[in-house]
Amino acid sequence: AQSIPSLKDAFKNDFGIGTCLNVSQIEERDPKTTAFIARQFNMATPENVMKSALLHPGWDTYTFEMADKLVEFGQKHNIKINGHTLIWHSQLPGFVRRIHSQDSLRTFFTDHIKTVAGRYKGKVFSWDVVNEALNEDGTLRKSVFLQHLGDTYITDAFRLAQEASPGTELYYNDYNNEQPAKRAGCIAIIKKIKDAGVRIDGVGIQGHWHVGKVPLAEIEESINQYAALGLKVMFTELDIEVLPRNVQGADVGQRMTANATSNPYPDALPDSVQQQLAADYEALFKLFLKHKDKVSRVTFWGVNDGDSWLNNWPVRGRTNYPLLFDRNDNPKPAFYSVVKLGK
Ligand code: G3I
Repeated sequence: AQSIPSLKDAFKNDFGIGTCLNVSQIEERDPKTTAFIARQFNMATPENVMKSALLHPGWDTYTFEMADKLVEFGQKHNIKINGHTLIWHSQLPGFVRRIHSQDSLRTFFTDHIKTVAGRYKGKVFSWDVVNEALNEDGTLRKSVFLQHLGDTYITDAFRLAQEASPGTELYYNDYNNEQPAKRAGCIAIIKKIKDAGVRIDGVGIQGHWHVGKVPLAEIEESINQYAALGLKVMFTELDIEVLPRNVQGADVGQRMTANATSNPYPDALPDSVQQQLAADYEALFKLFLKHKDKVSRVTFWGVNDGDSWLNNWPVRGRTNYPLLFDRNDNPKPAFYSVVKLGK
């Protein structure tokens, strides 16, 4: 594995290179895997263990063990941790889903941010403070937070996070927020936070795209528009899926449909698709490099194809190939098309 070039080294003068991580990857696999992760990446985002359902199962109960392990792993290997995520409508604890009053939700909201951001103060580099608050048309999603706390909840979340963890960078994160209508909604959120005198340091474009359809022009326009607001721009959950979706432009929030169950490449990715994937990643990284003064981090949503959530979405059991390393951590053509662009 030492003969394989390192992504983080290739782009060390340009932007950070991250992956999402789970405890199983750093504990249960052999030490070679740990070394491999530490060699390729200098940033990491917990894939699930810092979500409220896992961290905060009861009103006064917090379970920090797994999150702590990832934070320690990061400290040991010089990997900066991006906390993910304080306020999200999904993966909520059961007790929050049963809340029906404004006061109770406000109590959860405040306690959760103070406790979690406070615990990792000085230990995580950044937080995705609010995740996926927008609909595709740029309006605010009707989440439990919007319903009970009103549209100021996003600014409130940033204010609380700033108070609990002053030295930590604070981000808004979403998918499809490179698309014009959702981007406009995202810019409105950012302006509202800033107008309230509250700090926001960056915006995350998740980057769950589809092979042959990566929206390069919208991505470039978004980099420019977000950076013009004085924010760092990050690609926070990058993967390029290769399997058919129900409709063109289907997004991660959409429901499964019949043909999404098809599993056309159960054993290997055909060469033509492999080459298209490599070309898509190459074009993306060329764009990131062109704007390296504005793009601060590129994080993949998984170390290798076997880790990817896309094997289980929108239905379980599909064999997907969205990342740069195959199921044995061997570099794919897409890896070489990217790493060669670095120094
Ligand atoms: O932990 C349970 C396990 O006990 C149970 O046996 C198993 C069977 O269903 O489920 C396990 O939980 C799963 C969890 O991942 C941990 O593996 C959930 O079902 C599954 O829904 C969950 O999926 C995660 C998803 O967020 C949840 O919305 C994916 O791993 C994770 O990659 C995905 O990440 C999100 C980002 O946080 C936000 N942006 C979109 C992105 C992709 O959906």
